[in-house]
Amino acid sequence: MKKESKSIVVYFSYRGDTLNVGIVKKGNNEFLAKYIADYMKADLFSLEDPTQYPSKFAPMKAFANNLKYAKKRPKSKKGFPDLNPYDTIFLIYPIWNDDIPMVVHTFIENTDFTDKTLIPLCTHEPSGICGTYQYIKDFIVEAKVIVTDFSMLGTKARKPEAKQEIEKWLKSFGY
Ligand SMILES: Cc1cc2nc3c(=O)[nH]c(=O)nc-3n(C[C@H](O)[C@H](O)[C@H](O)COP(=O)(O)O)c2cc1C
Repeated sequence: MKKESKSIVVYFSYRGDTLNVGIVKKGNNEFLAKYIADYMKADLFSLEDPTQYPSKFAPMKAFANNLKYAKKRPKSKKGFPDLNPYDTIFLIYPIWNDDIPMVVHTFIENTDFTDKTLIPLCTHEPSGICGTYQYIKDFIVEAKVIVTDFSMLGTKARKPEAKQEIEKWLKSFGY
């Protein structure tokens, strides 16, 4: 794949009480999204969930779990990006209760990815990908979804070595 192809990094990253990290203004996935955007010279778009979550992690996780089972689909505060100018979309998100966060579901369910290449990447602490890349591939049948086995611990995403790992991962696609 050519680095010159036009890419956008669409990400969701929670700014609040994050597991093993504490209260943060910049979520773990935001670090990775920015590394990818810098390396790819890609645009960045942040999905913003307007839901008022409890401020402490444990009640927040339980609250989010209820929303997951209720299949809530919050609208993103800024809406969704126009994907027309882009060939490649990186979709970056945390694992929430072994799943994709609700606002990311809203994004994939309401976007036409025809003829796009989509590359998902998640962080977790530490449950792994939880089948979410394959879920995205199966759901977005109109796109070429590239499933890798790469993901990262959220705590690691905040460390300097994360940047090198991300660049190595991008190079594995030929970028
Ligand atoms: C509501 C919620 C649910 C979570 N559920 C899981 C989980 O099921 N498995 C896991 O490994 N980590 C889970 N985590 C941890 C996050 O996936 C991890 O901390 C991630 O790096 C957070 O990224 P962010 O700071 O960009 O939002 C959860 C975090 C939150 C806030």
